[in-house]
Amino acid sequence: MERLDKVLSNLGYGSRKEIKAIVKQGIVKIDGNIIKDSAIQIDPEKVNIEINGEEVFYRKYIYLMMNKPQGVISATYDNYDTTVVDLIGPEYAVFNPFPVGRLDKDTVGLLLLTNDGELNHRLISPKWHVYKVYYAEIDSPVNARDIEVFEEGVVLDDGYKCMSAHLNILESNESGSKIELTIQEGKFHQVKRMFNSVGKTVTFLKRIKFGPLDLDAELEEGEIRELSKDEIDMLKEI
Ligand code: URA
Repeated sequence: MERLDKVLSNLGYGSRKEIKAIVKQGIVKIDGNIIKDSAIQIDPEKVNIEINGEEVFYRKYIYLMMNKPQGVISATYDNYDTTVVDLIGPEYAVFNPFPVGRLDKDTVGLLLLTNDGELNHRLISPKWHVYKVYYAEIDSPVNARDIEVFEEGVVLDDGYKCMSAHLNILESNESGSKIELTIQEGKFHQVKRMFNSVGKTVTFLKRIKFGPLDLDAELEEGEIRELSKDEIDMLKEI
């Protein structure tokens, strides 16, 4: 059970004081009955709350998909740079979401944000092997040998041997290549470092898949949407 004013405040309906005033006006109903006391205890999962005839959509957790643009950092706060959280509208910001893992400042594409700490923990834990697929452009040709090396586990600059990764060459010639790479871990600058290890440079990087989720093609860079119930269920099944 929780206090009504706390529940509404957490959903972004105002401060507790503001909610007290709204409730006093007699425009808030719980299960169809007008209530005047904003301190009453309710079970927000079970009751129906209406404000001015509009049903309140209660949820504790929020799950967002962002098509991250270049130039913003995957953090909740930064002194200098714009963060992914700065791009979120106030209707979501009240939930205090944070990014699930990180994409580099210059990497674009699929980034999840949530305030569900338990799910976040599972999704970023190396134990669960959540697959991520990246589309990348490389400064030079990529070949069958690279496919083999990545499959076996490429060794990074610090001596770390990566888990097996699947490299799919979409296009390759002397001026450069376009590839898709599937990895099951998320080390710092992993994709860039994997290519550096075979003497090549990533010039563009975009995440197109995270676990069971595809980047929504309708989302422009910088745009965000809530995950559907099916998408949330798929993530929780991992
Ligand atoms: N690998 C990288 O090098 N950068 C990213 O942002 C993600 C994976």
